[in-house]
Amino acid sequence: MTANSLSARQRQHVFFTWSAQARARPLEIIDAERARFEVAGKGWVWDLESQVYNVNVGHKHAHVQARMIEQVEELPACAPSAALPIRAQLGELLVAHTGMAKAFLTTGGSEAVENAIKIARLVTGRTKILTRRSSYHGATLAVLEIAGDARKRPFEATMSAGLHIDDPYPARAPTPERASDWLESARELVAREGGETIAAILLEGFTGTNGMQHPPSDFWPGVRALCDEHGILLIDDEIFSGFGRTGRWFARERFGVEVDMMTLGKGLTSGYAPLAGVMVSEAIARRFDDEVLWCGLTHYAHPVSCAAAVGSIEVLEREGLPENAERVGRVLEQGFAGLSERHAMVVGQRGFGLMRALELDRSAQELVERAWELGVYLPSRGPMVWVCPPLCLREEEAETILGLLDQALARSSEGLQ
Ligand SMILES: Cc1ncc(COP(=O)(O)O)c(C=O)c1O
Repeated sequence: MTANSLSARQRQHVFFTWSAQARARPLEIIDAERARFEVAGKGWVWDLESQVYNVNVGHKHAHVQARMIEQVEELPACAPSAALPIRAQLGELLVAHTGMAKAFLTTGGSEAVENAIKIARLVTGRTKILTRRSSYHGATLAVLEIAGDARKRPFEATMSAGLHIDDPYPARAPTPERASDWLESARELVAREGGETIAAILLEGFTGTNGMQHPPSDFWPGVRALCDEHGILLIDDEIFSGFGRTGRWFARERFGVEVDMMTLGKGLTSGYAPLAGVMVSEAIARRFDDEVLWCGLTHYAHPVSCAAAVGSIEVLEREGLPENAERVGRVLEQGFAGLSERHAMVVGQRGFGLMRALELDRSAQELVERAWELGVYLPSRGPMVWVCPPLCLREEEAETILGLLDQALARSSEGLQ
């Protein structure tokens, strides 16, 4: 079946996400390996989106596949309430890597954030959740409502206005006399709403496609102090930035702040099966020793998903992929500096590890098309392109990609003259 006829067949009965259906142009992906995938009628392309920023260990890793197959053979379906070796093993790995006490496991990231909000409300008896204006925490109603992302617009009429910390970029850096603009905004918002009404402040460990802005140095410590002062919980959403993506296991490690809860997803299983979760502190975990935790799901801690997560974490550990992301990220950082010297349209770069962005002085559409012609799949939004390949990318492969982006930028500027 050709790509076009397959698309047409699927379009008839299965929706494509985030699209007007008639205009969706899906890729027909027929194979994948490490940091590339193969498209019918096109060939192999570099995957700079890691599918949807989740294939952290790389495509078709034999160890993750084997872990999943073992679990399929042993026990593929099981009640959410049951005790299973694979669930216990995953809990131990998550506690070891996050430094938190206990996990609540969900099927996707939005559900993880929803459950973190439920837990924050149960624990504090308060309702309000504060987020950054440039933030995304998922697509279900409660999380759309609290985040700043534009995808809430069609539903906004029935939602309460979010409570957002203003985060202009570049941020105004703190001085001895004055806090950064981000922290000032957080303090003003807490004062305006009343600290005693706020259950939690929810922040992405490092923001994804809403800009990859580097936070000012006083922001995370200042927000932690604000939370401590008012008994507000601090929730770190590591769904995008976790599991090695930024060159650390979790992006927050760069900012040196303890949190009360973390949400995990995407790279937790490297996308091999749906699984996400909420990690909670010891104090929150103990709270539910005797009180009921009013949270549950049919596919809670699905055994095959847990096996995918265990396999993926084992690969991250054994192959040192967070460290590799840091190393290869530096190759990209240097290469991007060269690109911005050679191409006037490249006006900036941001990011950590293999969670990076290039900023252009114009829409990135032309560059995306030229890169595609050269075998590079490059996600973009407005003038930003995101460079987030699987964490197994090798240094020499990064150099190859830099060469292709150099050519794509040259073609792109020619095309526009
Ligand atoms: C920071 C963050 N939180 C939450 C989500 C929602 O996760 P999911 O799409 O698995 O529901 C995402 C997804 O992109 C995300 O990047």
